[in-house]
Amino acid sequence: MNPKLSLLQPYPFERLRQLFAGVTPNPAFSPISLGIGEPRHAAPAFLKAALAGALDSGLSNYPATAGEPALRQACADWLQRRYRVLLDPNRQLLPVNGTREALFAVAQTVIDSARPGATVVFPNPFYQIYEGAALLAGAQPFYVASDPARRFATAWERVPAAVWARTQLLYACSPGNPTGAVMPLSEWADLFDLSDRHGFVIASDECYSEIYFGTDDAGAAPLGALQAAQQLGRSDFKNLLTFSSLSKRSNVPGLRSGFVAGDAALIQAFLLYRTYHGSAMSPVVQAASRAAWGDEAHVQDNRRLYREKFSQVTPLLAQVLDVALPDASFYLWAGVPALFAARWPGLSADEAFARDLLAQYNVTVLPGSYLAREVDGHNPGRGRVRMALVAHPAECLQAAGRIVRFCESAAPLN
Ligand SMILES: Cc1ncc(COP(=O)(O)O)c(C=O)c1O
Repeated sequence: MNPKLSLLQPYPFERLRQLFAGVTPNPAFSPISLGIGEPRHAAPAFLKAALAGALDSGLSNYPATAGEPALRQACADWLQRRYRVLLDPNRQLLPVNGTREALFAVAQTVIDSARPGATVVFPNPFYQIYEGAALLAGAQPFYVASDPARRFATAWERVPAAVWARTQLLYACSPGNPTGAVMPLSEWADLFDLSDRHGFVIASDECYSEIYFGTDDAGAAPLGALQAAQQLGRSDFKNLLTFSSLSKRSNVPGLRSGFVAGDAALIQAFLLYRTYHGSAMSPVVQAASRAAWGDEAHVQDNRRLYREKFSQVTPLLAQVLDVALPDASFYLWAGVPALFAARWPGLSADEAFARDLLAQYNVTVLPGSYLAREVDGHNPGRGRVRMALVAHPAECLQAAGRIVRFCESAAPLN
């Protein structure tokens, strides 16, 4: 067996299952889950039609790993409309089967584990794939805490120079999961500067880029890494790859479709890796993806639904939790009342909150400490919970009402 497999941590939902073992949710309430970040708005009808329409011709040939030129062009056209970024779809872009596999695979492509101290830097809390990708590539993760005093911006300035010197890959996540924080141009400028000095690759995970709360015409859309690079005169996108996904944008997490774009030399190496790994996208999925990247109306409708939900739910929850509207994404990253810290022996405040909330009101939230790692005695997720507002507005409102009642009735147990 590969000994590196033993380095992998249990996935947060496995830990949640263990936390909830033996808990009987109050049967007076229907179950509502804010636990998993899985979109639950309807998939667009035109996308399903494109999928069905491609069945006749799409199953008879092996697809190319680079995808069909028309799909790459549709992705490049979207980048141009969304970010005003121009790149060559034949040299600077590849389709991927959802960004999860690609975020994992990029580490296997770029890490040279023979170099001493190979390190992968990423935010803490974080999307769990970054850590597993680093460990299985033979690198050490370096966790960089998000700073609650700066709307959860990642405190990159706290990374020691010696760590930067051995860094080979950095994952950025903007808008962030679970914090929703969006990286401004100045933060990108700092990271590009560090990448130039130390030669590491930046993998920018942007799968929540289309879920934001300002009005569409007011420049509210989050800045993308390619856009930042271009604004800073880095139009070759050296050492930069961005990862974009249809899962949240178009409510099709089951389609498994996204793309990676940026530095042509990295794309070429990634294509080589992917050819052997066997990660070509089905022609049927390619046809549906082309249609999806070409349409913005369904994305605007989707955003409207999230906007409506967040504007109703956030003020309610802010009465009882330390929570505010994030920059973007579909998560609330909320501090739980201090009294939960001493509620159950052996459980952190966020775990106690999640377990009692399930027991009393049948609402599932994810303890923040499961999404972060403890470094120097500090887990930046401790005392926070992640709530994914993915269900329909009425259900999210109902969950918020229950959480308010839960917090208002919570009292120290002794
Ligand atoms: C931050 C982040 N990146 C990437 C992904 C993967 O998305 P997909 O593989 O569906 O494109 C997710 C999924 O939840 C995520 O939260």
